[in-house]
Amino acid sequence: MTKDIDLAKFLTQERHDIHLVGVAGSGMSGIAGLLLQLGHQVSGSDKSDSLETDRLQTLGLKFYQQHRAADARDAELVVYSSAIKKDNPILKSAQENGKRTVRRAEALAAIMAAKRGILVVGMHGKTTTSAMSAHVLRAGGLHPSHYVGGEIPILGTNAHWDGRGEFFVAEGDESDGTIALFHPEHALVLNIEEEHLDFYADLTAIEKVFRQLLAQTTGKVFYCADEPNATRICRSSDRVICYGLSDEADYRATDIELRDFSSAFSVYRGKEKLGEAVLNVPGEHNVRNALGVIALATELGVVFEKIAKSLTKFQHARRRFEIKYDSPRFLLVDDYGHHPTEIKATLKTARSVGRKRVLTMFQPHRYSRTKALRKEFGRAFDQADRVVITDVYGSNESPMPGVTGQLVVDEIAAHGHCGVSYQPRLEWVHRDVGNLLESGDLVLSLGAGNIHEQLSILAADLVIAEKLKEIVGEGGDVRLYEPLSKHTTLRVGGPAQFWVEPRNETALSELIRFCRRDNLPLFVIGRGSNLLVRDGGIRGVVVHPSGGDFDKIDIHGNEITAGVGAKLKEIAYAARAADLGGLEWMEGIPGAVGGALRMNAGAMGAQTFEKVVRVRYLDGEGNAHDKNRDELEVHYRHFPLLEQNFAVSATFRGSPAPREQIESRLRESQEKRRTTQPIAKSAGCIFKNPEKCPAGKLVDELGLKNSSVGKARVSEVHGNFIVNDGGATATEMLELIDRIKQAAKTKRGIELETEVQIVGEPA
Ligand code: EPU
Repeated sequence: MTKDIDLAKFLTQERHDIHLVGVAGSGMSGIAGLLLQLGHQVSGSDKSDSLETDRLQTLGLKFYQQHRAADARDAELVVYSSAIKKDNPILKSAQENGKRTVRRAEALAAIMAAKRGILVVGMHGKTTTSAMSAHVLRAGGLHPSHYVGGEIPILGTNAHWDGRGEFFVAEGDESDGTIALFHPEHALVLNIEEEHLDFYADLTAIEKVFRQLLAQTTGKVFYCADEPNATRICRSSDRVICYGLSDEADYRATDIELRDFSSAFSVYRGKEKLGEAVLNVPGEHNVRNALGVIALATELGVVFEKIAKSLTKFQHARRRFEIKYDSPRFLLVDDYGHHPTEIKATLKTARSVGRKRVLTMFQPHRYSRTKALRKEFGRAFDQADRVVITDVYGSNESPMPGVTGQLVVDEIAAHGHCGVSYQPRLEWVHRDVGNLLESGDLVLSLGAGNIHEQLSILAADLVIAEKLKEIVGEGGDVRLYEPLSKHTTLRVGGPAQFWVEPRNETALSELIRFCRRDNLPLFVIGRGSNLLVRDGGIRGVVVHPSGGDFDKIDIHGNEITAGVGAKLKEIAYAARAADLGGLEWMEGIPGAVGGALRMNAGAMGAQTFEKVVRVRYLDGEGNAHDKNRDELEVHYRHFPLLEQNFAVSATFRGSPAPREQIESRLRESQEKRRTTQPIAKSAGCIFKNPEKCPAGKLVDELGLKNSSVGKARVSEVHGNFIVNDGGATATEMLELIDRIKQAAKTKRGIELETEVQIVGEPA
């Protein structure tokens, strides 16, 4: 085929062999769909496949998941995406062989030229408005063909050729200047703003392209009268029709009632009331978009009743205020908004929904936009209570020095927002936002990249969290991604996927059954005083039995029964109040009953199980059992029963003793602790005492006191304590532990065994 063909005729009246380079993208797949419906032989290549390429293959697309010149040898025409580099093998080979190669927009403009074209343009709202136009014209019986840039469930596919109708509705892409290629009959101009400054020098350059399009528009120009730039640029064209909320608009909306997910308003043409409309997509900006569609459809002869009826049925495009999760407690919404104006509009809508707070996760899109509009981004988040910003999604751009998510955070903070934070790791964004959640929150993900995946993860976890909340009831607590550094005395550790605080045995038992049935790992944590959680945190349910029945201490005669959440220190004091001795050593252990049982904790030469009479626990099925001391197998710092079961309470036996004697033993314990143990943050003793020599003494003799890895340091007070100097990581702790073990082994031939429990996943 020669280069100078009539492309419109070639594409719409003849049948040819056509190849699309970069066919998996949302824009290119639409072209492929149209070409297949027009009867062409269509092949396409892309480095990745997509749901669209799967669907198109069932319609006849020959798909290659790589770009090889040989696969496009027979093609007479090559269509390429703007994301394709000049040195692409298929593109290069086609050009060398004198074949015609066209950009996506050129192909679209040519296909559209075969019909009465309606081009929807503007910086924001194109996909919604072009889809709404196609939907309303379709309902009006006009059989329009369409091409829109997103998945629109109500339209079926993103592009459709309907041989029966005269009209073709398309979304024009202004980002690369290609709207100047179109010669539509009508144009619908939503708004014009500074955008895509990677391509355009300034607003004047943008204006020039829009003015050219308007000059090439043969029919009517519809524009939004509430948009100053659009008004200025469009007003002077012939045959203009404007719409909007302003009194001057030809098509106007009044009495607007913005509801949670819809809007109701009255529509006027001049002084004539056309009727009432209800729109099932939220936000004032969408009322404007709908007015544009009403103006267009009315001028094309569709009666208002039909327009109004179809508007109520219109459903949103994906990623446009798309509800991902909706419960009385939480609402999760995803939106594609990535320009400051869109962000403001979407946040305004989110605010109007009427939930208590709006939490936002935002992924800036493109380095060039982030840099150019950083001031505007700084002012765009006023309506959000909390904002978590991640790093820039580059699209096809290379990074620019200094242009990161931090830049946006700094601008937002400089503007006076107090609730903004930076999370450079995208895969951790859902955690940061999820941990902020309180009942009544709306969470919004914003951005044109892949931030919505983080919201989907949050939504999936929230489904489980809500079930857990139902189990623990009003009195209990459930939190997502709770940092375990807050719940361990060592102050290190990543998050718990689900942090659950039941208050009684029934709730704990139900939790055990739920986790078993749903295959969720379950881990119990007490006061976290003997625990080292790795930096990646713990997947599954982390149960913290505390408060309620779990903190109770009851005394009957010489027996003290305490829930697993009761602090050992409090048991020691309760025993003193009842004049019971023998439990004074508990004063010096920073843990609770659960942990003391699990590891048979000890101090001052005493061990927990020397005083235990009975233990009550739940088995793996959630059934309760009571066992007396003589039925239990116990070792030094090890109680095997609790590896598979869950303690509920324990009964200890004290022996009546004179108050002064108890007081003096308590003082002895306090004194021992004060003089031999560090006060800094630690997990108590790290190693079990080997038979040959206490671990503290050994570490001391090895000369390792005060040695450190990062902020993890061996205490100078006691060699068996590692302290956190502030901000230490689990990785640092583990490395220091390893160094000590190595030294003990090589220098003294002693295998040190950790007493502290090490759990969780690496970061
Ligand atoms: N020692 C040194 N240098 C040191 C530390 C200790 O020479 O840096 C010597 C001491 O002088 C003493 C011996 O090592 O002769 C044992 O030390 P200590 O009396 O402090 O007792 P420990 O065996 O290190 C045990 C428990 C502690 C408990 C204390 C006090 C173990 C692993 N540790 O420590 O429990 O608080 O007794 O009763 O059994 C814990 O389990 O987390 C814990 C802190």
